[in-house]
Amino acid sequence: MLVNLQTIIGMAEKGNYCIPAFNVYNTETVMGVIDAAEQEKAPVIIQVYPRLLNEEVGFYLCPAVVAAAQRASVPVCFHLDHGPSEWEVTRALRWGCTGIMLDGSVHDFDKNVEMTKHIVDTCKSVGIGVEGEIGHVGSVNDAAMDEFTSPEEAAEFVKQTGVTCLAVLVGNAHGHYKKPPKLDIERIKAIREATGGTPLVLHGGSGIPDEQVKAAIAAGIRKMNIGTDVCCAFADGTKATLDDPQRSLAVDLFMKKPIQYVKELAVSKIRLTGADGKAQ
Ligand code: 13P
Repeated sequence: MLVNLQTIIGMAEKGNYCIPAFNVYNTETVMGVIDAAEQEKAPVIIQVYPRLLNEEVGFYLCPAVVAAAQRASVPVCFHLDHGPSEWEVTRALRWGCTGIMLDGSVHDFDKNVEMTKHIVDTCKSVGIGVEGEIGHVGSVNDAAMDEFTSPEEAAEFVKQTGVTCLAVLVGNAHGHYKKPPKLDIERIKAIREATGGTPLVLHGGSGIPDEQVKAAIAAGIRKMNIGTDVCCAFADGTKATLDDPQRSLAVDLFMKKPIQYVKELAVSKIRLTGADGKAQ
């Protein structure tokens, strides 16, 4: 069933676990994630980068996500990841997203608050919750990533915007880490406390050691994003197929392994976040 962001985050909050949020790129990655969620009886978030919300890809991909979510026996939220402005948010709502992220973290605090609050108000009119970001989560290739989210700023941001959940910078980054990250678990706890128990979001979920993920969830992370690992699983499945001299040329058969590899990755993250068995 297709559910909105506040419903699925509310489930995680109530059960003290974390919803895995998988970035998808094509129908096959959607199939792998939904297969995993059904098998594990897990609520999941399927999310897309704004660049995919266009006439070339989004036209095909978004209806496929909505149809898959509606048909699924588990709760699925279809979420816009890193929406930079109202333009992308409007598109996402038009394409059927039931969760929105407005990422104003590249702007100064006041501008970030202003943009996010506006989107929270807009989305409220259609019953959809919003994820905001305070402290900019960059890429593993950025020179410095040390301006971690301040608990005081996070508290003020939540108070002024009314976001459903909040992405934070606590030692995480997008992409495959060059060396294992060291999450600031104490800071996650402090942000959680300062914001009155606001559900927190961990971006850059690919490659964070399992023990740190578990500690982060215990400290208040309720949504973890996984993008790069989905791409790697898909690529590995494709390579395994290409390496098989018996492989079929028929594209649907050729795609079976990439789908299976994405499914296996999704199953492992569902279990790691404690979302398995939580759909009943
Ligand atoms: P990774 O690609 O590092 O898993 O990060 C995904 C993400 O945070 C998307 O917003």
